[in-house]
Amino acid sequence: MKIDLKQATKYIRAGDVVAVPTETVYGLAASIKQPKAIKKIFKLKQRPQDNPLIVHVANESQLKSLVLEVPKNFKKLKKFWPGPLTIVFKANKKMVPAIIRAGLATVAIRMPKQKDLLNLIKKTGPLAAPSANVSGRPSPTCRAHVETDLGKSFPVLDGGRCYHGVESTVIQLKKTNWQLLRPGAVSIEEISKLLNQKITKYKNTKRPITPGQKYRHYAPHAKLTLCKNQREIAVKSRQKKYQAILGFMDTKSNLPLIHLGRRNHYSENLKRLYAALRRLDDLGYSQVLVDTQFKIEGLGATLWERLKKAAG
Ligand code: TXA
Ligand code: MG
Repeated sequence: MKIDLKQATKYIRAGDVVAVPTETVYGLAASIKQPKAIKKIFKLKQRPQDNPLIVHVANESQLKSLVLEVPKNFKKLKKFWPGPLTIVFKANKKMVPAIIRAGLATVAIRMPKQKDLLNLIKKTGPLAAPSANVSGRPSPTCRAHVETDLGKSFPVLDGGRCYHGVESTVIQLKKTNWQLLRPGAVSIEEISKLLNQKITKYKNTKRPITPGQKYRHYAPHAKLTLCKNQREIAVKSRQKKYQAILGFMDTKSNLPLIHLGRRNHYSENLKRLYAALRRLDDLGYSQVLVDTQFKIEGLGATLWERLKKAAG
């Protein structure tokens, strides 16, 4: 159900949860000062309690109130503040309730660029918001997706289609090294250039730092089979069990094609990805091939990671 900024402000102040647009994907937002509303987010999303939420701020004074310290080279990252870059900080535990942090000593924070959302946060204060999908489903990139997951009467501040269509990149400073916790709408190469240092990928050891990493993500109901090259596509397309192929405009197969735009145009591909995954389900497919012949560099790495996770 479409609501406007005034109504959204009212809901949040009353301790309720609303879906909000961001430039990445839609979020499910509540005030960080409303523990009951935060609990409701976990319940609505069927999200495990050990997976912390991202806090969204509108300005740096809000940021400073939530953290113990801001890393020295934070200012180099400001190209993406506002923007699709989430940074993990040492939390001011008095200000950020444990339920948001899932008990960690840190808090993930970003400053979104979407205008309506920034205006909302200016009025309500910082908002905790995970993506507005039911856990495990592809993130919503328009109001209709939110309504599919949470019901037609769920309040959504409608901002149209999301600009990036994929989640923010999550990074963290470990001593003097910056680590990538989740690839996203900003490429690792771009962050590395801004910081003038190599970014290491956080390795998923026994205890994942980003608890979200251990759950199956972004998945349609259909089973996806990743194909490395044209040969594999040709062979598998002839097998009876496959009903469709997810690929690019120039993908060659006798199966019905759902495409992500032009091959190797990653921003375009990411913008379409989650809608395409949801479309596979709408069309009732259960076995789908995926054309993964593209370069795993820049945002191609994000596309590759999401497809791998969607394939389970
Ligand atoms: O673009 C986005 O980031 C969207 C929009 C709504 O802002 N939000 C989003 O939130 O994708 P969510 O909850 O779906 O993903 C947040 C990720 C999870 O993988 C979570 O484990 C990780 O960030 N995270 C949150 N707090 C963390 C922390 N303190 N340390 C490490 N990882 C954290
Ligand atoms: Mg999510």
